Amino acid sequence: MEKKKVLGISFGRKMMNTDVMIKTALMECEKAGCEVRFIRADDLNIKPCTGCISCVVGMTTGRGKGGCPIKDDFYILDEALMECDAVIVGSPTYVLGPTGHFKAVCDRIGPSHDVTFRKATYEEGLAAGKDPKDLPDPRSFKKRVGALVSVGGAMTKNWLAFMLPTMYEFTMSMGIDVVDMHEYHGAMAHEHVLGNEEQMERMRKMGQNIAQAVMAESEQERTKWRGDEEGVCPVCHCDMLTVSKDRKSVECPVCGISGSFKVEDGELKVSFSGEQQKRSRLHWDGKLEHSTEIKTQAVGPGQISNLKELKAPYIGYGEK
Ligand SMILES: Cc1cc2nc3c(=O)[nH]c(=O)nc-3n(C[C@H](O)[C@H](O)[C@H](O)COP(=O)(O)O)c2cc1C
Repeated sequence: MEKKKVLGISFGRKMMNTDVMIKTALMECEKAGCEVRFIRADDLNIKPCTGCISCVVGMTTGRGKGGCPIKDDFYILDEALMECDAVIVGSPTYVLGPTGHFKAVCDRIGPSHDVTFRKATYEEGLAAGKDPKDLPDPRSFKKRVGALVSVGGAMTKNWLAFMLPTMYEFTMSMGIDVVDMHEYHGAMAHEHVLGNEEQMERMRKMGQNIAQAVMAESEQERTKWRGDEEGVCPVCHCDMLTVSKDRKSVECPVCGISGSFKVEDGELKVSFSGEQQKRSRLHWDGKLEHSTEIKTQAVGPGQISNLKELKAPYIGYGEK
């Protein structure tokens, strides 16, 4: 049987905490019989998305396959993602959230790799008799598992507040099932994670968790949550909530689902119905809701007949 492929990606400094933590998890995967690959994201020249939306327009009009016109090193990461069965991604905390480069990479994965866009384009294209080489890469639909690793120098956990929720941006559009996540705060109290056995052990455990998930025989076992904490949201397992304007419900900002809450014996109890959980944007239904909204409501150019005229006073305005 072909070995399962696990890809580790670090957005950290060369051979510092994040790099070594991701490599530690990969070493366990390799021990368990997986083929592994490590990519240090900052070694690649990946430019920011320009917002041209040709990836999505191409797919919705049936002329494209989700590609990007920017010529840089993104194709290296893209091919590694297409090849892998599991991904372990780690980022340092830069001002409460993942690094700017992490976000740049997520934008490049973003809509172009959305499984619902890609699948519809692929199936409609095949039905129309198109050559599969002109259609989205069928490896886009492979079931994958993932793990997220957040690393912060601060001693206080809330200095990593936006890390894990934001890190879902990496896995969301491809529909990668995150089965484990870990946050290492207080990294600056240690010269290097190599001197912090508790963290090293947790990363070994993450490697074992990913190896078990990727080799699982049932779908339930594959997607089983293997993280240390259940979290407030039963879908993404994060603890972040937003409060509705009327103060009557809460939302999970990662999943975009609504829940109810009550305080019992001084404890906040939050619950999300099965129906809401199903429409999380981490699941097919939630993603489909969004891609359908875009396909049916986004308008193309030529709607405002005098747009050129309206724009004229703004051209060059305030630019020195
Ligand atoms: C620009 C910048 C901003 C940072 N902001 C935070 C922060 O908000 N919270 C935190 O916990 N650590 C912060 N740190 C510290 C890093 O997260 C920490 O050094 C981490 O270990 C870097 O990961 P690495 O060792 O894998 O490169 C910041 C570091 C830099 C360079």
